[in-house]
Order: sequence, then C-alpha cells, then structure tokens
Amino acid sequence: MVKFENLSFTYPDGTQALQEVSLDIPAGASVGIIGANGAGKSTLINHLNAFHLPQSGRVIVNGIESSKENAEKLRREVGLVFQNSEDQLFMPRVIDDVLFGPMNLGIDKDAAMRDAEQVMRELDIWSLRLKPPFNLSQGQKRFAAFATILAMKPSVIVVDEPTSDLDPRNRRKLIHLINSLKATCITVSHDLDFIWDTCGRVIVISAGKVAADGRTEEILRDRTLLESNGLELPIRLQCHLTG
Ligand SMILES: Nc1ncnc2c1ncn2[C@@H]1O[C@H](COP(=O)(O)OP(=O)(O)OP(=O)(O)O)[C@@H](O)[C@H]1O
Ligand SMILES: [Mg+2]
Repeated sequence: MVKFENLSFTYPDGTQALQEVSLDIPAGASVGIIGANGAGKSTLINHLNAFHLPQSGRVIVNGIESSKENAEKLRREVGLVFQNSEDQLFMPRVIDDVLFGPMNLGIDKDAAMRDAEQVMRELDIWSLRLKPPFNLSQGQKRFAAFATILAMKPSVIVVDEPTSDLDPRNRRKLIHLINSLKATCITVSHDLDFIWDTCGRVIVISAGKVAADGRTEEILRDRTLLESNGLELPIRLQCHLTG
C-alpha cells in the first residue's frame, strides 16, 4: 500500500510544487499519473524513495513512513526509474549497474548474476552488459535503468516517462512487461495510450494538486477534463473521433 497524506512540497526557490496531495494506492494496483509539464508529477513520485522528504504531510509505503532515518528501508520497497536515465547509471559497465543494488542488499554474487541475466535478457539488453552505460543509445539507457530496478525485486515500481525514448517495438515490450509485473506499479507519462494499456486507474495532477482520480477509461475519455488540465485525448480516441 502506498499512501500520500496531505503532502505539500516547496522547492528552495519558493516554487510550490505540491499542495495537500492525498492518495491511497493499494498493493498490486497499476496506476497512471498524468498532468501537464510542471504539474508536479516527478516531485510527487520522487517522494516515494525519499529522494524528496515530506516537508508537510506524510508518505507511507507498506507501513514505512518516509523520513531521513527510513530512507534505506523505503528504497528496498520502492524502485524508481527516473525521468532521466543518466541519473540512474553510474558504474563502468551496464552489468555493474544492474548488480550494484542487489549486491548492496547483501545478495550473493552468483544469485545476483543469475537475476541480472534473467532481467537483462527479458529486456533484450544482455548483449550490452559490458558496455559503459554512457555509450548506450537513449532507449538502451532507459532499459538499462529499468533493469537496475527490476533486479532489486521491489514491491513498488515507479516509472517516470518510460516511453519517451523507446521505439514502437520496445514500447510494446514495456507494455507487456508492466502488465506482467506483480508489484504495485505507478507510471507517470504523457503517453496516454501507454497509460491506457497499462493502468487500471489514472490520477490527474494539476498545479500540484489532485485534479481527478478514477478508472482509466473514464478519465481518459473525458475530453473536457483532460483539456482543462492541459492534456489531450489519447491518440487512439483522437483517430476515432476524426474518422
Ligand atoms: N529543483 C527545482 N527547483 C525549483 N523548482 C523546481 C525544481 N524541480 C522542479 N521544480 C518546479 O516544480 C514544479 C513541478 O515540477 P515537476 O518536475 O514535478 O513537474 P512534472 O509534472 O514532472 O513535469 P514534466 O511533465 O515536465 O516532467 C515546476 O513548476 C518546476 O518548475
Ligand atoms: Mg516530470
């Protein structure tokens, strides 16, 4: 269970990015978070692994309340794939990045290597394992960052703009992957067709507040709601409407 309780957050320059956000996300759910550029989506989800700490209000994941002291515990529960993959990859070779988290958790090297191979084969990046991450293409970086998170087997997986660098085939692969996950999955994306294919529930964030929260089809078919929050209908519905 993921819980945000009256969460507010202001950046040091005075930008108020979140105002009194309250949300409950049950275990095993797949939830989409959408909203215009600058709405506060990344700020919100970056609270889930204690990258940001609550300034007012609370964030609780599987009974663990986010705080400086609990940051490490929280990071075992939550795997966050950052909006910018380069924030996630820092080792000399891709395989080192994928092994880094599990080895830090004290998992034995052979078992960690078996898991890493399985995850990287699933994402089709096993052949890239010896490359330096900074030499990968953007889409390859995205999958490498994803692999570092999946290898940790978190109970909550959070992905920020996962499809922005992906070609259509890899985008499709990611849809299948997310749909096959047993973990709670929170996806932030401007790709509303991707959200449609992967999430049962959608939360709309606007100017740091929850503007709407409901079943995916209800929210994503509501043109007025989407447009009043700086969004547009998913492309599949636009095509349908224009014939
Ligand atoms: N480090 C920072 N310092 C000051 N303001 C920031 C900082 N990071 C983000 N902001 C501001 O906080 C607000 C929310 O930003 P955030 O990155 O959470 O938006 P977002 O919904 O993820 O947008 P996008 O769709 O463009 O990724 C914006 O007004 C942004 O300018
Ligand atoms: Mg963002």
